[in-house]
Amino acid sequence: MLAMNYRGPYRVRADHKPEPEIEHPEDAIVRVTRSCICGSDLHLYHGLVPDTRIGTTFGHEFTGVIEEVGPGVHNLKVGDRVLVPFNVFCGSCFFCQRELFSNCHNVNPEASAVGGIYGYSHTTGGYDGGQAEYVRVPMANVGPTIIPADMDEDDAVLLTDAFPTGYQAAEMGDIDEGDTVVVFGAGPVGLFAAKSAWLLGAGRVIVVDHVDYRLEFAQKFAQCETVNFRYVDDMAIHIKKLTDGMGADVCIDAVGAEAAGNFMQTLTGVRLKLQGGAATVLHWCINCVRKGGVVSIVGVYGPTFNAMPIGNAVNKGLTLRMNQASVKRHLPRLIEHIQAGRIKPSDIITHRIPLEEVADAYHIFSSKLDNCIKTILVPPRARVSMS
Ligand SMILES: NC(=O)c1ccc[n+]([C@@H]2O[C@H](COP(=O)([O-])OP(=O)(O)OC[C@H]3O[C@@H](n4cnc5c(N)ncnc54)[C@H](O)[C@@H]3O)[C@@H](O)[C@H]2O)c1
Ligand SMILES: [Zn+2]
Ligand SMILES: [Zn+2]
Repeated sequence: MLAMNYRGPYRVRADHKPEPEIEHPEDAIVRVTRSCICGSDLHLYHGLVPDTRIGTTFGHEFTGVIEEVGPGVHNLKVGDRVLVPFNVFCGSCFFCQRELFSNCHNVNPEASAVGGIYGYSHTTGGYDGGQAEYVRVPMANVGPTIIPADMDEDDAVLLTDAFPTGYQAAEMGDIDEGDTVVVFGAGPVGLFAAKSAWLLGAGRVIVVDHVDYRLEFAQKFAQCETVNFRYVDDMAIHIKKLTDGMGADVCIDAVGAEAAGNFMQTLTGVRLKLQGGAATVLHWCINCVRKGGVVSIVGVYGPTFNAMPIGNAVNKGLTLRMNQASVKRHLPRLIEHIQAGRIKPSDIITHRIPLEEVADAYHIFSSKLDNCIKTILVPPRARVSMS
């Protein structure tokens, strides 16, 4: 089959690989019809995630059709149209029982923090991902979700990560009616966080980035105010000026380890890898939020320490919330929002690229060329069935 193949930092290509097989009675094989490239894939692509092995296939946002099921799969049948949450999870451990699916205890023997993620290095379990024609889906009774008959698959694929992650970012902000919410990052996750902040009652939403086309897009998609940090000397002072000296009620980090904006942070966090990524946005969140406010972090960082002002957070009495999103928990509510017409996730899709051209697709998204916001990779067979 055709699949994305990681060859080393900044080097990916489409290759032929053996088709996946059922390895456990509760596995399913999904024939992929759409897969996305996520901002998290860029951390892999840039060589920043430990134990990213040559030859692996990325891709944790995908939809498809059930091609085959193991004898222990009862909730799905061949031919079902499914969206597959990016988390691999068991559904029954201590953590899954508490709907902390991203922290499942049974799917990643390598780690005690994060659970399993498709196509995200051996630090998250070593599962091959969905930027391929076929993918093995373990624990298929609990993860995959049938796509509602009236739902466009372009909307469905954004329910596997970007929309639920943005929603969880806003939800962890514990937004009160009328709150001012500042979202750092105008990528797909930041855009959905901004949109979700309104759904959860925000009175004002401000999105910060330095890429003009993304800020313009944010204004249209999420009806928010925007700040280009290239023109701001001191972010904390700037946000205070915008909020009568108070600071924001909630700050959301939808950027993570590769944040721009501070030379020393980039040098120590990205170039020299002395900390688990640049902590620029962690600083900005802690310093821009008001006393007693909430900082919600969904941006991804490395497992080692980060140089962040924890003393300020203590003295300001902040609540810090963070996690990888637990996608499945949010699906019923988010499907309802889509069906009620309150949001059209597929509006953020700017590129639809054949899987064969995966190298170009990564380059365009990574370098922010051609006004790219979200890219969908389409395997050859899915293109035939679409036309
Ligand atoms: N927690 C989760 O479950 C989860 C899920 C998906 C993605 N993520 C993470 O969320 C982050 C965003 O993902 P994405 O797909 O939107 O990625 P993206 O790369 O498309 O977007 C990141 C945006 O941040 C901007 N940026 C860089 N430095 C900034 C700064 N200092 N202040 C404000 N903006 C800045 C970039 O210009 C870019 O537009 C990534 O770190 C990704 O790994 C986490
Ligand atoms: Zn992702
Ligand atoms: Zn579990």
